[in-house]
Amino acid sequence: MEAVEAPSLASVRSDPSAANAGVARALELRNGRLVTLRAARREDIPAVQRFVRGLSFESRRNRFFAPLRELTRDQLDRMTRSRPPDEVSLVGETTEDADSRIVAMGQYATCEPTDAEVAVVVDDAWQRQSLGTQLLRFLAELGARSGLAVLSGFVLADNRPMLALLTRLGYEFSSDDDPRLVRVAKPLLPLGCP
Ligand SMILES: CC(C)(COP(=O)(O)OP(=O)(O)OC[C@H]1O[C@@H](n2cnc3c(N)ncnc32)[C@H](O)[C@@H]1OP(=O)(O)O)[C@@H](O)C(=O)NCCC(=O)NCCS
Repeated sequence: MEAVEAPSLASVRSDPSAANAGVARALELRNGRLVTLRAARREDIPAVQRFVRGLSFESRRNRFFAPLRELTRDQLDRMTRSRPPDEVSLVGETTEDADSRIVAMGQYATCEPTDAEVAVVVDDAWQRQSLGTQLLRFLAELGARSGLAVLSGFVLADNRPMLALLTRLGYEFSSDDDPRLVRVAKPLLPLGCP
């Protein structure tokens, strides 16, 4: 697995575009297929919309909490805007075929100074191959590097795959005022701690 290390927090804050250039990781999935995680950019908008349209109804509902078929312009702008350290948006891209294709996305955005909300989604045909796990781990690593203390989020209470995945990764669960949602959170160890 090849990793390109993210630059220091000081350089990231002074030049977010340079920070994005350093955010990349090559993954090998359980079935041997290869995916690169990298920062999303505006040019990805058509490919992101294709990715979302290609998801199953259930995956779209579980990710966006609504029965949408595609994203609005605002949502596309947000999903393709990566401004570390406060806002990170990753695409998982495969270049195995002649053309590159997005097969996963993951984001976090700070909601408190040291707390960020995280969300991920994997193409249905690419699920159960460790991509969701590796995407969440990379987001946690980038968050820790940026000084975040906690990754948190909301998951639909009937989203068993995501709750099973988060249990494995050590997230804690608590109930929300909305009974359809579960709050999830995980403290991040500062990098360098065992
Ligand atoms: C949840 C999701 C991201 C998981 O991605 P993934 O790439 O399939 O996850 P992984 O392959 O890393 O799975 C890791 C573990 O999670 C659990 N898991 C994943 N999918 C599961 C499923 N369908 N049923 C039960 N457990 C599941 C398992 O414990 C799995 O380990 P195993 O395959 O060794 O049994 C994916 O199902 C998805 O994109 N769902 C739709 C969007 C969504 O729900 N996003 C969360 C919004 S907050």
